Amino acid sequence: MSKVATTAAFVSQKGGVGKSTLARVLAVGAVHRGRRTLLADFDLDQLTCVEWGAARLRGSIEPELDTRPFKSLKKLRKDESVVDFIVADTRGLADDLSTEIAEDSEVVFLPTGVSQDDLRPTLALARKLARRGAEGRLVMVLSKVGRSETQFAKAVEAIEDAGFELLSEHWPQRDGFQNDLDAGRAGREARNPHLREIAERMEEALWSRAMKAKPRA
Ligand SMILES: Nc1ncnc2c1ncn2[C@@H]1O[C@H](COP(=O)(O)OP(=O)(O)O)[C@@H](O)[C@H]1O
Ligand SMILES: [Mg+2]
Repeated sequence: MSKVATTAAFVSQKGGVGKSTLARVLAVGAVHRGRRTLLADFDLDQLTCVEWGAARLRGSIEPELDTRPFKSLKKLRKDESVVDFIVADTRGLADDLSTEIAEDSEVVFLPTGVSQDDLRPTLALARKLARRGAEGRLVMVLSKVGRSETQFAKAVEAIEDAGFELLSEHWPQRDGFQNDLDAGRAGREARNPHLREIAERMEEALWSRAMKAKPRA
């Protein structure tokens, strides 16, 4: 009966890299695929996803998405039996709780900017999580990518050199996503067709990587 849900976590060592945004892209994608999805917000200081969920309710955006704050992993696991897909959004700083969530997830997405300033702490976090047994479940995501191809290529190389997996799609910098998020929409629900197309590609990449993940032992 209580089949263990697949958990996809978004973690980073820095704030503002797109964790909450990409978490919502994936959660919306999962709901549209008929999964009983929970978007679990562990960032109690910001409650980005929870606030967004409230805006979604106010705007009567369909489909409904169960979005709730959680203080601990134990509380999340208690609720697990009624959902089959969990997206966990974590705090800006990879604290003990974020690390614990990462260790207990089937797949861990680490969004990062393309600058060395962003990559350095992200790769350090990835190494730390790998040492703790998360190897093979860590996926870097280049996020809020600007127009410089050189910068992008350097980032890809740095990730490859470090031996980590990189998601097949990157998330380009487009200020237009903001308006949709404020209105309780995310990802494929973007009103602008160009943004929608970008988001659908990202959603598919996140989703298929999550589906490839092996169940926790
Ligand atoms: N592709 C993008 N282009 C421009 N701004 C973005 C993009 N993705 C996210 N943002 C914005 O960047 C800010 C930080 O994103 P967020 O997902 O909240 O990061 P985190 O959860 O890692 O702190 C938010 O204001 C968000 O709307
Ligand atoms: Mg956030």
